[in-house]
Amino acid sequence: MKKLNLILLLMCLPIVFTSAQEFGNRINEDESKVPQYTLPDVLMCNNGMKVKTVKEWESIRRLELLEIFSSQEYGRTPTEKMNVSYDVLSEDTNALNGKATRKQILFTFTNGKKNIEAILLLYMPNNVKGKAPVFIGYNFLGNQSVTEEKAVFASPSLHLVEGANSNVWTRGSQKNRWPIEMIIDRGYAVATMYYGDIYPDDKELRDHSIVSLFSDYDKYSIHHDEWNAIGAWAWGSSRVADYIINNESKIDSNRIALIGHSRQGKAALWAGAQDTRFKVVISNCSGCGGAALSKRVFGENIARITSSFPHWFCPAFNRYAGNESNMPFDQHELLALIAPRHLYVASAEEDIWADQKGEYLAAYYTKDVYKLYGMEGLDSPIPPAINQPIQNDVAYHIRTGIHDVTDFDWTQYLNYCDKYMR
Ligand code: GCU
Repeated sequence: MKKLNLILLLMCLPIVFTSAQEFGNRINEDESKVPQYTLPDVLMCNNGMKVKTVKEWESIRRLELLEIFSSQEYGRTPTEKMNVSYDVLSEDTNALNGKATRKQILFTFTNGKKNIEAILLLYMPNNVKGKAPVFIGYNFLGNQSVTEEKAVFASPSLHLVEGANSNVWTRGSQKNRWPIEMIIDRGYAVATMYYGDIYPDDKELRDHSIVSLFSDYDKYSIHHDEWNAIGAWAWGSSRVADYIINNESKIDSNRIALIGHSRQGKAALWAGAQDTRFKVVISNCSGCGGAALSKRVFGENIARITSSFPHWFCPAFNRYAGNESNMPFDQHELLALIAPRHLYVASAEEDIWADQKGEYLAAYYTKDVYKLYGMEGLDSPIPPAINQPIQNDVAYHIRTGIHDVTDFDWTQYLNYCDKYMR
């Protein structure tokens, strides 16, 4: 009998495995096939009490939600303090034809035995009297890719990337995503770092990530709330904020905006949820595991993202692969953690994979939390027309074009920051 049970179990196993994989392959991009779903009420506490005041939100529900996202999706951010030293590698007060001061700062993270290096590239406007506000954001292909300026160093961890000498990684290859001069002309500083310096984006390279410096590091940990790449990138943004706040007297510590595109939009939202020093949080095309509601199961779904990128989320998130209807939380609750600070979610018309409507709705459903603070969220569950930004305290736009960061996006972000960070 026992033997028979074992045989039956073994026969069932492949079914379990195929179905998880199958869910990942079953991508729905048809609005009429979005399942019926009910979103959890962001103000409903675990014990059934409904939050009515800012105090209840901040002392009870906000903490419960941080715990949910730490234990179920991104993993737990360590509280252990990491040693870091800063070396200014270069400073040029005459960059961009005298418009900006450009600095490059080497961060060396160390646990005493092993070091990890990252370079922050910082441009500050020369014509701002007093302190300038700043945008912090990761780049995808190394600091040398965001500008043609020859003096900009390649990021340290590029040697880990296969094919990093191909064209896409060349100087200036991503300058369209980083209109530095336009940002400087508007009176903002901009600070960027290659995300691979913090966690190289490859499941085999965990040993080269900052995660490996922490005292409880276990390369093979499958602990349900083990932090991973998105958690590490979020942590890294806070370390950039530490540096700026403590070392850059020309930057206003109270006016820090955090911007992230796509996988870095996911990380920016998680960083913004945890670290209240980010006064504006911008999610550009962040999609699944970012701004998009998981329960709509539209475009990229949890089964697909966790199988394509097993090193991004904590192991517990796999539980929801093909099982979104049983999730006790959804991404609108992550976005709500940014209140009362300012939140901007943006989508692109052709970026179906990121589920633009799901991104809009998650931003919309933060409204009850913003209302507690007397702030204005998005007014309607119907998204605005293409290229018609709404910039209430919570902002949203969907622009023409593909999954990318464009001048149109940056113009809206600058307008929004002018409105709320002045
Ligand atoms: C893939 C992935 C997305 C991610 C995107 C990106 O498309 O499926 O989840 O946002 O890469 O980071 O560019």
